[in-house]
This record gives sequence, structure tokens and C-alpha cells, in this order.
Amino acid sequence: MTQPQALAGLVAIVTGAGNGLGRAEARSLAAAGASVILNDLPGDAVDGVAAEIRADDGTAVVSAGDIGEWSTGERLLHTAVREFGQLDILVNNAGVLRDRMIFSMSEQEWDLVLRVHLRGHFITSRLATAHWRDRSKQAGGPVYARIVNTSSEAFLLGSSGQPNYSAAKAGITALTVTTARSCARYGVRANAICPRARTAMTADLMGAAPDAGPDPLSPEFVAPLVTYLASPAAANINGEVFVVHGGVAALLSPPSIREVFRAGEHGAPDGMWTLDSVASALAGFSTGPSAAGFACEEANSLATDTIGFGA
Ligand SMILES: NC(=O)c1ccc[n+]([C@@H]2O[C@H](COP(=O)([O-])OP(=O)(O)OC[C@H]3O[C@@H](n4cnc5c(N)ncnc54)[C@H](O)[C@@H]3O)[C@@H](O)[C@H]2O)c1
Repeated sequence: MTQPQALAGLVAIVTGAGNGLGRAEARSLAAAGASVILNDLPGDAVDGVAAEIRADDGTAVVSAGDIGEWSTGERLLHTAVREFGQLDILVNNAGVLRDRMIFSMSEQEWDLVLRVHLRGHFITSRLATAHWRDRSKQAGGPVYARIVNTSSEAFLLGSSGQPNYSAAKAGITALTVTTARSCARYGVRANAICPRARTAMTADLMGAAPDAGPDPLSPEFVAPLVTYLASPAAANINGEVFVVHGGVAALLSPPSIREVFRAGEHGAPDGMWTLDSVASALAGFSTGPSAAGFACEEANSLATDTIGFGA
């Protein structure tokens, strides 16, 4: 896989490819030999990334449009099939922020973020998996098919000012696992990343890059994992979630059961829950010092080098 042309002959869609992580990922996939179809909102940014890839002797076609629109997804897939015969790799990356506390958020802010992230991931995944299922049926066996979705640590942390974004990213994680389980038989491998990178989206949080040395928050350091997950070498990686930034990649464990309560041990006559037996079972239970029981702040400790907090 370390050969530069590990993706030669493969065809990839990258959404939100005009800036930040999507740009770096599209360039990395193209440098590894993939022909890339670039999606972003129409404009100079995505056209510029296509020009950069072509200047490096890569192959890139732009299919611009709002990824929350079904017709944009259809055009992307049609472009892949028309220009290159098929689709092999889907990198879902496009995203926006509309940060606000839950008690102040407007319905427009909620809807936009869910639409671009979660619906955007759904539309392309829906169309791509149908394409791969059809081809698999024709071929009589699995076909080459890779999805890399973009989640975020926000969904792990219960990020306070991001109820819309955290919910969308939790949904994307669940969508990844569902897709991985339901489409493996057709050859599909679907994984998700929780990246950290200095981009337009995070400029306020992360500030300027260091004057000297490599920028540990450069999107370039997230792109290699995405390209690897898109490659033949990742055939045995499916339904996983990686935290990745700088020189660190962490594989997340799935949620696990912390404690089991049984009604029969708390006075329920037929072993089924009653209000009294619930009260008895939870009488000694406390969420503990964490602000929210289900939140996972462990990944923050990985960020000391790249973002300067979390130790
Ligand atoms: N930067 C980070 O630290 C970080 C952390 C966690 C997750 N992410 C995720 O990574 C992805 C990329 O973010 P980024 O940091 O590169 O941000 P960015 O703002 O640099 O890039 C996002 C791109 O998505 C495009 N986009 C927005 N709405 C779109 C739409 N409706 N249709 C098509 N394209 C659209 C934007 O035009 C932009 O080019 C996002 O999903 C984001 O949530 C980023």
C-alpha cells in the first residue's frame, strides 16, 4: 500500500472537496492514482482543487451542488459512471457549523446542520450502495466498494454549543455501522473518521499554524488514513471509527454495558419493572463526577500535541 499508485484505476467521489479536509483527501486519493469526482458548493474553491490535481497529473472532474439535495447525489454518481464507468470509493466529508446552545438554537440552525451532514451522508451512501449492490448481483459476488464517512469527537463529548452538530455526527457514526453491517456481503467496507484539523471550520478554535516545523493540525495528516481506508489494503477494516490528527490515530471501542439492573432483584413480583423496583435498583446509582454519563472525554488526551489541550 505504500506504493504511490495504490488506487490506480479506482474512481472516488469526495464531498466538500473545495477546502480543508476534503481538499487534502481528494488530493491524496488522486496522488494515489484514483480518478476523483469533486463535490462542493459551486464556486472557485472546488474548481481550484480540480486544477491543482490536474497540475499534478491527476484526474479530477467537478460535480458541484448542495449535497443535501437528492439530485446532487444522483449527478455525482452519474458523473462517475459516465466519465469513468463506475464508482469504487465514496468519501463523505462536506459540512457546516451553526453553533448555539440547545436552549437558543433556531429550527433553521438545527435543520441546516442535520441536512448537510446527516442527510448529505445518507443521499450519497444510499445511491452508492445501490450501485454496488446492482454490480455485485451482476458479478455474482462482492465488488470493490469503500465508504469513508466523517464523524467528529463532538458526538463523543456532548459538545456543549453544538447540539445539532453532535447529533448529526452521532447519526453519521450509526449510519456507518449500519452500512458496514448491511452491505459487507456486496463488498462494501464503511468506516468513519473523527478528524481534527486547522481549517476554515475550526479557525476560531485553533488559531494560526506554528511558524516553524510541520503543522500537526494540517489536514494533510488526516488524508493518509482516509486514502488507506479507501485502498485494497483495508479490505478487512469495516464498521470502525478512528480519531485522527497530526501523528495520532485511535481506534474507538464500541459502547459497552456499564451495569445491569434486574427487576427481580428489586422486589418486582413477576420480574418485570415497576416504579418501586426501578427506584430500588437506581437508589444507589450516581452518574459520578462526569458532567454527562454517556460522554467520552478520553479522546481529548490524544490532543496534547496537536491542539494543546487534553492532558
Ligand atoms: N476541522 C476539524 O477539526 C474537524 C473536526 C471534526 C470533524 N470535522 C469534519 O470534517 C469535515 C470537513 O470539515 P473542514 O474542517 O474541512 O471544514 P471546511 O469548512 O474547511 O470544509 C467544509 C467544506 O464543505 C463544503 N460544504 C458546506 N456545505 C455544503 C453543501 N451543502 N454541499 C456541498 N459542500 C458543502 C464547504 O463549502 C467546504 O468546502 C466536516 O464534516 C467536519 O464536520 C472537522
